[in-house]
Amino acid sequence: MAVETGRVGAAVRGEFPILAHTTYLSSCSQGALSHRVRAAYEEYLDGWDEHGAEWAHWVERAEAARAAFARLLRAAPREVAVTTSVTQGVSGIVSALDLRERPRIVISEYEFPTVGQIAHAQELRGAEVVHVRPQPDGSILPEQFAAVVDGRTALVCCTTVSYRTGHRHDVAAIARIAHDAGALCLADSYQAVGAIDLDVGSLGVDFVTGGTVKYLLASAGLGFLYVRGELLADLLPVQTGWFADEDIFQMDISDYSPAADARRFDAGTPPVPNIYAGLAGMAQIEEAGTAAIEEHVSGLATRLIDGLEELGATVPTPRDPARRGPLVCVRSTDVGALVRALGDERIVCSERDSNLRIALHLYNVDEDVDRILDALGRHRALLA
Ligand SMILES: Cc1ncc(COP(=O)(O)O)c(C=O)c1O
Repeated sequence: MAVETGRVGAAVRGEFPILAHTTYLSSCSQGALSHRVRAAYEEYLDGWDEHGAEWAHWVERAEAARAAFARLLRAAPREVAVTTSVTQGVSGIVSALDLRERPRIVISEYEFPTVGQIAHAQELRGAEVVHVRPQPDGSILPEQFAAVVDGRTALVCCTTVSYRTGHRHDVAAIARIAHDAGALCLADSYQAVGAIDLDVGSLGVDFVTGGTVKYLLASAGLGFLYVRGELLADLLPVQTGWFADEDIFQMDISDYSPAADARRFDAGTPPVPNIYAGLAGMAQIEEAGTAAIEEHVSGLATRLIDGLEELGATVPTPRDPARRGPLVCVRSTDVGALVRALGDERIVCSERDSNLRIALHLYNVDEDVDRILDALGRHRALLA
């Protein structure tokens, strides 16, 4: 049985209208819309209608988002940039790297396209990009990173949870390998934040990035970048903007004088409507508590993997709870047809490569797992 501590499972389902008629297992793609996130957009529009440009309040909301991200990561607000996407955060990081002495960027094969593409774009600046590819069982081990991280390496990228297979990297071990070689380490945690209890201190990484679209229950256009405090003085992003300046309202165009804290990785006008939504989504996650969500989700994932094994399905996601997150993948012979067949039964999943992706979150319950297992049993011919 999944453990139900905090506000998870049945206790929160009424807040998400889609759950009344749909088995929603696609939080790895987009979190379900709640009443409170919808109301947050209304609040933004009402304020705009009532008061016109509420810039002082809107900038304060951006700072509230910075503080909320910091709490979720157990970081200090001064270590968090408010971004519009992971892309912005990663571009900011690489723009601050001096690639002359250290041209190597090491990336896991499980990086999201934006991370891989930004790394390869640095080849125009002399970078050399090395990929760390999975073992036959799909895992990528710290020692594989150790084999390619050297004294010429500037950055090591190890996404926390693979969006393709659900594998979870041993981020702390990989960060130690990077640091032993004098390199920095980035963990794109989009597929973890909100569903896994993260603590940047114990992960030991230099950068963590993610956003609100998935397990933080809001919509597109809001993200974060954590930058380890001790690094800030020496990291000067060339990708910048006026909201990254030490004094935004001075409107000074005579020099580059970035903020002393991680706000130096902010950029232009904050994405105000998305910030309203993001704050509402994050409040729900904080009420439940990420430790309670992780425990709940892990119980559901175990139930699901047990059922998939009974069906004789091929499950690339590891069975060990320490090596997976909220995403369980199952191999299909025709994943497009399988997603459509499930959709016809109002079971929403997604696909990557030839894997059906089944994502579990605080609002999922045992019955959701049983329902998809029952449907997959009937569509057994589409499982590899
Ligand atoms: C692991 C991961 N990183 C990044 C992204 C998105 O990046 P961006 O915010 O730049 O669109 C996603 C999903 O869309 C993701 O799953």
